[in-house]
Amino acid sequence: MVADMSYSTVSNVIDTWEEIRRTENYEEVVGTALFLKFFNLEPEAKIIFGFKDNNDLEDLAKSRRFIKHAKYFIQMIDKALGMLGPDIELLTEILLELGQKHVSYGVRPEFFPSMGRALIHAVQSILGDSRFTPDVKDSWVEVYGALSYDMIRAQKL
Ligand code: HEM
Repeated sequence: MVADMSYSTVSNVIDTWEEIRRTENYEEVVGTALFLKFFNLEPEAKIIFGFKDNNDLEDLAKSRRFIKHAKYFIQMIDKALGMLGPDIELLTEILLELGQKHVSYGVRPEFFPSMGRALIHAVQSILGDSRFTPDVKDSWVEVYGALSYDMIRAQKL
């Protein structure tokens, strides 16, 4: 749950996120790396985004809908990071609602771990190994785990 995250976990993620934001065109850079990896892991999920299963991944990356979700996703992480702390209860409510919307989009709970792996891959590829230390990695894994935990449990409410 988002309410359980420690201060050092959150600050590790916020600090490295700030660094990524300084990359030119960061939303698209992160988003493209994220989704190329995600569809590699979960080719079946392409259908949810309105793509045929045999579409070439490079074409997918140029698709407007693909980029749109990548931006939604990054904006949600941004928003969530900004709400940790005093707004934590409101953030939990937003995530529960977002989780329920995802059911109506056809998103199955088992897609969430792959999205997490893709996110870690994207962040690592931008930060580089010297900055993406094991400690930083653990923090990202924990923050993604907490966000997706609230979204997934909403799917079962
Ligand atoms: C922690 C994980 C995730 C976050 C934070 C997230 C965030 C978001 C946000 C903020 C939106 C726009 C919401 C709105 O309609 O108001 C959205 C839409 C959507 N998300 Fe996610 N998402 C996550 C995981 C996933 C996964 C795992 C999938 C697919 C396998 C997915 C597929 C979609 C789809 C299909 C839409 C509708 C947008 C469209 O059709 O273009 N999301 N997501």
